[in-house]
Amino acid sequence: TGRTFTLNNGVKIPALGFGTFASEGNPGETYRAAKCALDTGYRHLDCAWFYQNEDEVGDAIRDFLKEQNGKVKREDLFICTKVWNHLHEPDEVEWSLKDSLKKLKLDYIDLFLIHWPIAAERTEDHQVKLGPDGKYIIKKELTLDPTPTWRALESLQDRGLTRAIGVSNFTIPHLQQLLSIARIPPTVNQIEIHPFLPQLELLEFCKKHNILPVAYSPLGSQNQVPTTGERVSENPKLLELAKKSGKTLAQVLISWGIGRGYPVLPKSSNPQRIKSNFEDYVMGEAEMKAVDEVAQLEKGGRKDRFVNMKDTFGWDVWPEEAKEG
Ligand code: A2P
Repeated sequence: TGRTFTLNNGVKIPALGFGTFASEGNPGETYRAAKCALDTGYRHLDCAWFYQNEDEVGDAIRDFLKEQNGKVKREDLFICTKVWNHLHEPDEVEWSLKDSLKKLKLDYIDLFLIHWPIAAERTEDHQVKLGPDGKYIIKKELTLDPTPTWRALESLQDRGLTRAIGVSNFTIPHLQQLLSIARIPPTVNQIEIHPFLPQLELLEFCKKHNILPVAYSPLGSQNQVPTTGERVSENPKLLELAKKSGKTLAQVLISWGIGRGYPVLPKSSNPQRIKSNFEDYVMGEAEMKAVDEVAQLEKGGRKDRFVNMKDTFGWDVWPEEAKEG
C-alpha cells in the first residue's frame, strides 16, 4: 500500500512498514527479506540496533537504490531505528545512532526511537552487561527519569541525524512524564497492537497528545507462543472473515490496523508473504466491525500481550498486568 500518515512534526510516514527483526538470525536472511520488501514496493523499514542485522539492511538499501538508478531515491525511503537499553546515557545514545548509520550506510535516518523505557548497564565496548543472575543490570535513576536520554535524542534531531524522534513500549505514565519534560514531543509510540491487544486506552491517550501509535506484531506475533493458548492466526472468527473476504488473514489484520489509524509493521522472510502482505486491501465497515468484535472493543478490549521481555531484563514494564493475570 502507498498510504501514509503524518507525524506531529509534518514528516510523512508510510502506513505499511517492514519489520526487520529476524527471529532465526541466519546470515543473509535479513538481506534477502529487506531487498525483497524494497523490490516489492515497501518504502518504510523498521530496524533496531538490538536486531544485530542493520549491516544487512544497509546492504539491501544500497543495492536497491543502485539498481533503481535514481527512480527511487534515499529521500523516498523511511528508515526507523532504535537505541537499546544499555545505551541510554547521552553520549551512548549518540554512539548508538552513529553505529546504526554506519551499518545502514546512511547519513541520516527518518525516525529514532527509545526501544524500551528501561536503562541498563553496558560494558566498555558498548555491549549489554549482565548481572550474576544473567539479567540486565537496571540503571534505576535513568530509568525512572529519562530526561537526559531524551535530551540526547532531541540534540540528534537538531543536528539533522534523524528527521523525527519517538519512543517504543511506553505506557501512559511513561508518556505523561516524557511530555512534561520534552522540548521536542515524541512523534510516535511503537507498541504491540493486534486484535488480542487492541490497546484502547493507550491509543486514546496517544490521539489526545498527537502521538502516532505504530503497531509491531500486527499479525499477533505468529512465532510466539501465547500464554492464553490461542494464537491470533488460529482464531476461527478471523479465519472465517478472511475466507469470506477472499483475503489472507494477514491482509485482514494489516487492513484493520491501518483502518484504525496507525502504521503497521508486519515482518516475514518469505517472498510470497512479503508480497501478499503489501497488497492494497481497504476493508469495509462491516469487516472492520467483525474484527473489532474479536478484539472485544465493546468490553474495553482484550489484553493478551505476547511480547514481554521481563525475564530477560529482570524488570517488568507492565507490572499491573502481572498482578491481574
Ligand atoms: P514468515 O517469515 O515465515 O512469513 P508479527 O509481525 O506479528 O510478529 O508476525 C511475524 C510472523 O508472521 C513471522 O513468523 C512470519 O513468518 C509470519 N507471517 C508474516 N506474514 C504472514 C502471512 N501473510 N501469513 C502467515 N504468516 C505470516
